[in-house]
Amino acid sequence: MSAVFNFTFVPWFRSVAPYIHLHRGKTFVVAIAGEAIAAGKLQHLAQDLALIQSMGVKIVLVHGFRPQVNEQLAAKGHEAKYSHGMRITDTVALDCAQEAAGQLRYEIEAAFSQGLPNTPMAGSTVRVISGNFITARPVGIVDGVDFKHSGLVRKVDTAGILRTLDFGAMVLLSPFGFSPTGEAFNLTMEEVATSVAIELQADKLIFMTEIPGVRINPAEPEGEDNPIDTELPLAAAEKLLGQLPNPTQPTDTAFYLQHCVKACKSGVERSHILPFSVDGALLLEIYVHDGIGTMVIDEKLESLREATADDVGGILQLIEPFEKDGTLVTRDRTEIERDADLYTVIEHDGVIFGCAALYPYPEAKTAEMAALTVSPHSQSQGDGERILKRIEQRAKGMGLQSIFVLTTRTMHWFIKRGFVQVDPEWLPDARKRKYNINRKSQVLVKKLS
Ligand SMILES: CC(C)(COP(=O)(O)OP(=O)(O)OC[C@H]1O[C@@H](n2cnc3c(N)ncnc32)[C@H](O)[C@@H]1OP(=O)(O)O)[C@@H](O)C(=O)NCCC(=O)NCCS
Repeated sequence: MSAVFNFTFVPWFRSVAPYIHLHRGKTFVVAIAGEAIAAGKLQHLAQDLALIQSMGVKIVLVHGFRPQVNEQLAAKGHEAKYSHGMRITDTVALDCAQEAAGQLRYEIEAAFSQGLPNTPMAGSTVRVISGNFITARPVGIVDGVDFKHSGLVRKVDTAGILRTLDFGAMVLLSPFGFSPTGEAFNLTMEEVATSVAIELQADKLIFMTEIPGVRINPAEPEGEDNPIDTELPLAAAEKLLGQLPNPTQPTDTAFYLQHCVKACKSGVERSHILPFSVDGALLLEIYVHDGIGTMVIDEKLESLREATADDVGGILQLIEPFEKDGTLVTRDRTEIERDADLYTVIEHDGVIFGCAALYPYPEAKTAEMAALTVSPHSQSQGDGERILKRIEQRAKGMGLQSIFVLTTRTMHWFIKRGFVQVDPEWLPDARKRKYNINRKSQVLVKKLS
């Protein structure tokens, strides 16, 4: 084995360790659009899910079957009918849905049963258990439209699902539910996944979808200056949802987002929209710091927000001890007052215990993150990282391509979070002129994806 391999593999594997520890014992509801299976992604998805499960995550898998049902309908010469963005399930469509679900369950169970030597599934023993965990009720007649066998979730057998997960199995759910009279109803994968995540109070709800996530500016076309918003605070997601038109198809931005917001508002702290087209998207989102899709996160515990002039006193109190011991450069008080709106703070019960400022250099498409500080009593709880993420979002919102920091003692913290060291010559001219040679600060840059 080459020494180069050792040098890359070992640090890489260690960098993943915190995420493995973090997620062990947690419950994730993973919803896979039928389009992912139609696109031939099942084998790799099964491999990744088996790996995640082997690292102690409890998984409820919900599959969709939109294209498969439509294919069956087309084969029978029957037209797919929709209203209010929902399928109208007549008797033929119900037959097709049952056939599609049966076929998909076999395919999914088969994918989790592989174990050939020298494949990622070698040695994996994933038990997949499906069942009648969902009770449904009919959608009924809405605005004069009879939805027939289309249903909505009425109840989730939480105890049954939890017992199955505790038994070490993966729970597999099709978008079907049954009424107490024994009637079958066709549900949507998104509603089943969201309801199950809420009832279980799952740690994550993850949608594997045909879209890459939510763009910073959803109304604008995709492009380098309009990347995916990797972290959307719940309040911002709700606001965005209010501005978007009602979704009619899965590729509409609001389609998955509405379910993420619903789950987050009902106690599922994190919900994600990921593209199934990216191989390993699940692993990249769960075990890598920046992730690749959009995560909607409930930040109700403390408020992470932009600062106002009223916060200047709190900011000064927080940074002063670090200015005194030389960790931070001393800033002019009037400068902080003038620039208050460039600061982001974390506040809890009226006390500011974290902050950072973002000084843009638009001509160089970059910005400096300065005065990143978390109160000594609150450190090591992830707040530094949350402030960094918010600063990255603000920079992306300004159309910038990178952020940089000058640091004398904290380089490793930044390097672990995707920054790389560059020569001070890299700095934008306006910042270079202020660079203090005697302080010998290191310059670290993070490219914004
Ligand atoms: C750097 C700082 C903002 C991090 O805030 P935080 O809320 O503790 O950060 P997180 O909880 O997201 O991360 C904590 C991790 O960073 C590590 N860490 C803290 N300071 C570090 C440093 N100087 N170098 C390397 N790692 C550091 C902690 O040990 C902890 O690791 P662990 O999770 O393995 O225990 C905070 O330590 C601080 O305010 N430091 C003093 C001011 C400062 O140095 N600011 C940077 C100016 S450029």
